[in-house]
Amino acid sequence: MNNMLNAIDDVLLMGPGPSYIPPEVYEAMSKKTLGHLDPYFIEIMDEIKKLLQQLFKTTNNLTVPVSGTGSAGMETCFVNLIEKGDPVLILINGVFGVRMQDVATRLGAAVDALEFPWGTPVIPENVKGKIEEKAYKIVAMVHAETSTGVKNPVQEVGALLKGSDTLFLVDTVTSLGGIEVSVDDWGIDAVYSGTQKCLSCPPGLAPVSFSDRAVDVIMGRKSKVPNWYLDMSMVANYWTGKKRAYHHTAPINMLYALYQALLLIIAEDLDNVWRRHESAHATLVSGLETLGLDMVVEPGYRLPMLNAVYIPEGVDDGDVRKRLRFDYNIEIGGGLGDFAGKVWRIGLMGHTAREKYANRLVDALKKIIR
Ligand SMILES: Cc1ncc(COP(=O)(O)O)c(C=O)c1O
Repeated sequence: MNNMLNAIDDVLLMGPGPSYIPPEVYEAMSKKTLGHLDPYFIEIMDEIKKLLQQLFKTTNNLTVPVSGTGSAGMETCFVNLIEKGDPVLILINGVFGVRMQDVATRLGAAVDALEFPWGTPVIPENVKGKIEEKAYKIVAMVHAETSTGVKNPVQEVGALLKGSDTLFLVDTVTSLGGIEVSVDDWGIDAVYSGTQKCLSCPPGLAPVSFSDRAVDVIMGRKSKVPNWYLDMSMVANYWTGKKRAYHHTAPINMLYALYQALLLIIAEDLDNVWRRHESAHATLVSGLETLGLDMVVEPGYRLPMLNAVYIPEGVDDGDVRKRLRFDYNIEIGGGLGDFAGKVWRIGLMGHTAREKYANRLVDALKKIIR
């Protein structure tokens, strides 16, 4: 029988994730599978926790990868912290803020949304007004809004919440490993990410971190966490307990991949990694501008790793993306939600964030659009 895997191309992944995977990470995934309670594997788990603490810039003990993609990280943060009726404020300026609102609402929280136009950032002054009106248990926001390419002012919102009892919950799925994320300095209590963006690892794990304050809230719940699989009071026993107890079978080879991906980032040094994202972004933007394309987001709020650009009038979205994929082996993303059919989303995430790839895409686009 024909094995379809043999025909998989080396596609340059320049969409909103997954990103290009370095060969070292593929090699790590193909190492022999150990048991999930094997002493050597437990040592690898301990190293992963330390590496994630470095990336998140936190000393939080409960800093672990959850089994599942970024959305599992989102569910984990909300499902562990929310009890029915809890007042929650979600700051929304794109698809992933809307997803947070959906998740929190399904858990029975009393959700207020503070919305900002898509393509523009959250305005801290408006958040200040809202939190002065009402005491929230949780304020949640997305750092890097992948649907629009906007960088939101997490540090500034964190500063507004300092000294209050409100927990600060942040999505760093697209930002972690591409721009600074400083969990402790910014006063973040619950944070999640995903492996397939700036960590340059296949999709399948969601690093999360909870402050001691957030852990106290989890341990002091009146009701059980309504999701068994993501209940951190149980998952923590496997990852951080003195006696490591089975909870669910860890995705061993995915964890090898994450370990290797984190080692590569730390070896390159976080500052260098962020700089590489910035320079690839600058190259891409100037190339797109020479083609006459307009960026969606104003310069001060642009994400280096997710570049939203308006599709020029008269150009067929689907046709261009198909030609990029099949004639040039490059994937870029289409618009999501309100931006569907109106913008392209060009990723420069992790291993993809290199000037040579930005130039390769601009050259291909030049030929196609002409
Ligand atoms: C900001 C943000 N949050 C959450 C998610 C959900 O992650 P996943 O698709 O890995 O479940 C994504 C995915 O693109 C994202 O960009």
